[in-house]
Amino acid sequence: MKDWFSSWFDTKYYHILYKNRDFSEAEIFISNLIDKLDISKHKHILDLACGKGRHSIFLNQLGYTVDGCDLSKQSIAYAKQFENDKLHFFVHDMREPISNKSYDYVFNLFTSLGYFDEKEDNIKMLKSVDSYTANDGVLVIDFMNANKVIKNLVKTESKIVDGITFNITRKVIDGFIIKNIKFDDDGESFEFEERVQAILLKDFDNYIAQTNFSIVKVFGNYNLDTFDAENSDRLIIFAKKNNKN
Ligand SMILES: C[S@@+](CC[C@H](N)C(=O)[O-])C[C@H]1O[C@@H](n2cnc3c(N)ncnc32)[C@H](O)[C@@H]1O
Repeated sequence: MKDWFSSWFDTKYYHILYKNRDFSEAEIFISNLIDKLDISKHKHILDLACGKGRHSIFLNQLGYTVDGCDLSKQSIAYAKQFENDKLHFFVHDMREPISNKSYDYVFNLFTSLGYFDEKEDNIKMLKSVDSYTANDGVLVIDFMNANKVIKNLVKTESKIVDGITFNITRKVIDGFIIKNIKFDDDGESFEFEERVQAILLKDFDNYIAQTNFSIVKVFGNYNLDTFDAENSDRLIIFAKKNNKN
């Protein structure tokens, strides 16, 4: 059986349900990241788990050299229409190294990890990122603030998007936030599940300590305001690579 994240993210329905996570949101966030990190134009950026490439495309429009990669073949096939000399997309599992590449910045945006049943896979993923990040390079992780999500868990919800009614339920089991998504389309019934590990700042601290990265800053939203575990919507981590050996 395929992992849930290999199938659900590869469907058109994932993109319909999350269509509010669009280019304008990506542009605001990327502009704030560029300002805060003061990234010069010759730097090489990887958008890790890029989906259809909304952040990569905007970074490239700003003049950066960008690679975007994702496990979803459908999303990469879509993103490829935007390729140019300084923008490339490829299918890649983020747990694996990328050979013959070195990036100055690696962005993992909009809750694009925490999917693996085995927590060791989070460390495997971070060690892989470590292997292709230049010394002094920076990893940016934009994750949900799991603390707030769990405290304010919306147990049931119905959302109508593009004429499809998505019936959603949420529960927390063994440290994973499990979202069940049911809907009908074209006379067919569908059911998908998202299982995202509720990774807290202290867990990231622990995982990142096992690599050559160290957390240098933490923010709580796309305006990059201070992180507050109770109230922030996001947990946005800047981690800098500094070879420890
Ligand atoms: C919530 S989406 C975010 C996509 C994109 N970063 C954005 O903001 O639009 C998570 C993405 O992670 C990708 N993904 C899931 N597991 C992956 C893996 N093992 N390796 C690489 N990408 C993966 C999915 O295919 C999906 O595109």
